[in-house]
Amino acid sequence: MAKQWWLRYGLAALVIGLAVFAVGCGGDEAAVDGGAAGVDTPAGQALLEDRCTQCHTLDRVTSESKTAAEWQQIVGSMVSKGAQLSSAEVDTLVAYLAEMYGP
Ligand code: HEC
Repeated sequence: MAKQWWLRYGLAALVIGLAVFAVGCGGDEAAVDGGAAGVDTPAGQALLEDRCTQCHTLDRVTSESKTAAEWQQIVGSMVSKGAQLSSAEVDTLVAYLAEMYGP
């Protein structure tokens, strides 16, 4: 009897663990695949994490919600402060920011 109890307990723990794991992964996927057509989400995210964290933390950026025009202006001003982005990278990043952190 004791054996069965442990078996059931173990199974329940496994199921709960898998559910938590699945929910966690689902959230990540939504963040990564959430881009609309034409938005290179993985590239935008990589640029954001790579080029926008040298002077301040990421939440300085991700706490904002702005239109594409406003992001364009902010990214432009960050470039003039010293952010390392080519103009093609600015376009990718602005599209990503507007999609993920829009109004
Ligand atoms: C060379 C340093 C530097 C880099 C790189 C940088 N920032 Fe900034 N950022 C700043 C500074 C300094 C401030 C604070 C400006 C202020 O308070 O007037 C700031 C503030 C901000 C703010 C707050 C709003 C504002 O205008 O004060 C946002 C949003 C932001 N940065 C986004 C970005 C993004 C997106 C990137 C990547 C393209 C980036 N930053 C890269 C220096 C940088």
